[in-house]
Amino acid sequence: MNIQWYPGHMTKAKRNMQADVKLVDLVIELLDARAPHATENPDIRKIAKGKKRLVLLNKADLADDRVTRLWIDAFRREDCEVVALDARRRDTIGLLKQACARLSAEKWERDRQRGLLERRAVKAMICGIPNVGKSTIINSLVGKASAKTGDKPGVTKGNQWLSVGNELTLLDTPGVLWPKFEDQTVGIHLAMIGAINDQIVNQEELAVCLLRVLLRDYPAQLAERYGIGAELLSARLSETGAPDVLGVDPEALCALELIAEKRGCLKRGGVPDYERASRYLIDDLRSGRLGKISLERPERA
Ligand code: G4P
Repeated sequence: MNIQWYPGHMTKAKRNMQADVKLVDLVIELLDARAPHATENPDIRKIAKGKKRLVLLNKADLADDRVTRLWIDAFRREDCEVVALDARRRDTIGLLKQACARLSAEKWERDRQRGLLERRAVKAMICGIPNVGKSTIINSLVGKASAKTGDKPGVTKGNQWLSVGNELTLLDTPGVLWPKFEDQTVGIHLAMIGAINDQIVNQEELAVCLLRVLLRDYPAQLAERYGIGAELLSARLSETGAPDVLGVDPEALCALELIAEKRGCLKRGGVPDYERASRYLIDDLRSGRLGKISLERPERA
């Protein structure tokens, strides 16, 4: 499965970020806690080079808490300030301000030694890929009127300065991806969490990839949500044989067939509607109905 998506406006957005990063003290990068590796834009890493960096693992409410803790440790080992959060919650503001204050302590101390008694607001550029929750976090920080959220990845806004109290000024930037996903797992994980336009991705192939992850790491969630356990799967596989689709994991395809049956996603004659079942499954992942799922672990990334 080969996924590439880099709408033209992102090149301009990246250029603006390269120019504006000179104006800020630190860079706040939002990642998706379910896929911190795939959602970490290598271009942003380059743009932020030499700046203090705060990583926010957003949508932590949808990720596996145990795995999120492993990611936090991994980022700390890279000497990164990191906070896991749910951008929709009010207490996000406090967590974010505290982390910015920790990163700004040195700067404030330098200012104090130079005789500047009043703390200057810390200037931070906030960035991330589309749909990672940037508008939501800005809404939580500065109020609904300042930033609009939407469910379509890749809608651009220009860079915008926003004040968060007296101590923090944010430079908002549009969601940007990068021109080529060298590792296709990255593209696949981005598609699973809805960071890539669904129109350009084959949803059935995506669902099969997701089922491979679920069968390996989260069989209990599959059993709970759809009643598909190991016994049922192996019984079905030995009863009907592996579905004959070249190159597709038979167990994952069989699980998709069972989801179609159990959720009534059937075409005329009782034939499984794989496409509808795939959308159902992907929607269940994105909404959290499938439980708390992490697609990536630091040791495998
Ligand atoms: P963006 O600006 O980075 O593109 O993302 P945006 O804030 O628009 O958020 C994308 C979707 O993710 C929104 O859902 C938003 O509510 C949801 N979201 C953001 N942060 C979190 C989080 O920490 N946890 C969870 N569970 N969801 C989060 P939507 O369905 O597209 O829009 P809406 O109907 O919720 O407004």
